[in-house]
Amino acid sequence: MIAHVILDRIDVPIVLAPLAGGPTTPQLAAAVSSAGGLGFLAGGYLSAGALRDQIASARAMTAGPLGVNLFVPGLPTASGSVDEYAARLSAAAALAGAEIGQPRFDDDAWDAKLALVLEDPVSVTSFTFGCPDSSVIDAVRSAGSEAWVTVTTPAEAAQAASVGADVLITQGMEAGGHRGGFTDDPAVDAFAGFGLLSLLQLVAAQTELPLVAAGGITTGAGVASALAAGARAAQLGTAFLRSPEAGTTQVQRDAVARPGATAMTRAFTGRLARGIRNQFLDEHSQAAPAAYPEVHYLTAPLRAAARSAGNPELVNLWAGQTHELTSELPAGELVARLASEARAALAAASARMS
Ligand SMILES: Cc1cc2nc3c(=O)[nH]c(=O)nc-3n(C[C@H](O)[C@H](O)[C@H](O)COP(=O)(O)O)c2cc1C
Repeated sequence: MIAHVILDRIDVPIVLAPLAGGPTTPQLAAAVSSAGGLGFLAGGYLSAGALRDQIASARAMTAGPLGVNLFVPGLPTASGSVDEYAARLSAAAALAGAEIGQPRFDDDAWDAKLALVLEDPVSVTSFTFGCPDSSVIDAVRSAGSEAWVTVTTPAEAAQAASVGADVLITQGMEAGGHRGGFTDDPAVDAFAGFGLLSLLQLVAAQTELPLVAAGGITTGAGVASALAAGARAAQLGTAFLRSPEAGTTQVQRDAVARPGATAMTRAFTGRLARGIRNQFLDEHSQAAPAAYPEVHYLTAPLRAAARSAGNPELVNLWAGQTHELTSELPAGELVARLASEARAALAAASARMS
């Protein structure tokens, strides 16, 4: 374990989840860090140059610690299932007056972004979609950054611990956005994943590593429950989507604010993710193959067209199960409110035990 664990140095045990695809901005990350939490930048989908600019911009806005999140690349998918899905979607796209894109594989510029964080490290480098090799973890730590790994099962937690991760982000099924686990096996029932409280208890029983809890936390009481279950901090994503500093589109802001059921789907990207149910999710989830990022590129133009038309039925409305409890507060105020609500919740819970 490296000497200075960031989780011991932040004033408030609240981590801003990396929110790739637009919601994360340097302003959002800086606001959370300046409020005493840990702000994260989302490296996913960005070029290394764009990520470098975001890091510089966030650093100029806060003296607080920052994290950067990277997608660990997977393997290409055989084209058959993607072609079938493409045929199905081209009909749907034509009806909507849009087009589908060219499915392709890439590694999200892994080498370039990893080189960037090694060359000019931030306080924390977190990983999702896979377990980095121990050589990657060692390099991150030698560069002076902590290496955090996202896990969704006790087995993944054991693997991440074995490669030397400093901190485990335990992501429950409640979480908005993509499942951050190491594989996306279509043979595993999409509903069979661990809820956050179960996962936290199981992982805490098997490792001494600090845990950061993610999934469905949008209130101070939620933060308190994660801390009570042994997490050192809570990582919140959906809670910040409506903050003015976030780059969230208006269609998504509106959908997140309204009560509405969420579901797990591969329909938009080919990797299981939780989003608010809409027409596209309901019509295509059953048929969608496990093929990330091929399906991401396939649906990208269709989603972009729907987004600019303000049509919530054809875009991925990533959100966690408690999205309707979110507010539009500026991120710094939200951190302060969550902290005071969490203190009150913990005091009330403690009083119940005496
Ligand atoms: C819009 C959106 C984008 C996300 N992007 C990322 C990402 O780039 N990297 C990552 O590790 N997790 C990402 N996540 C998942 C979060 O890290 C976290 O697990 C999740 O937000 C926690 O659940 P909550 O949304 O209910 O708070 C994203 C979540 C959302 C809602």
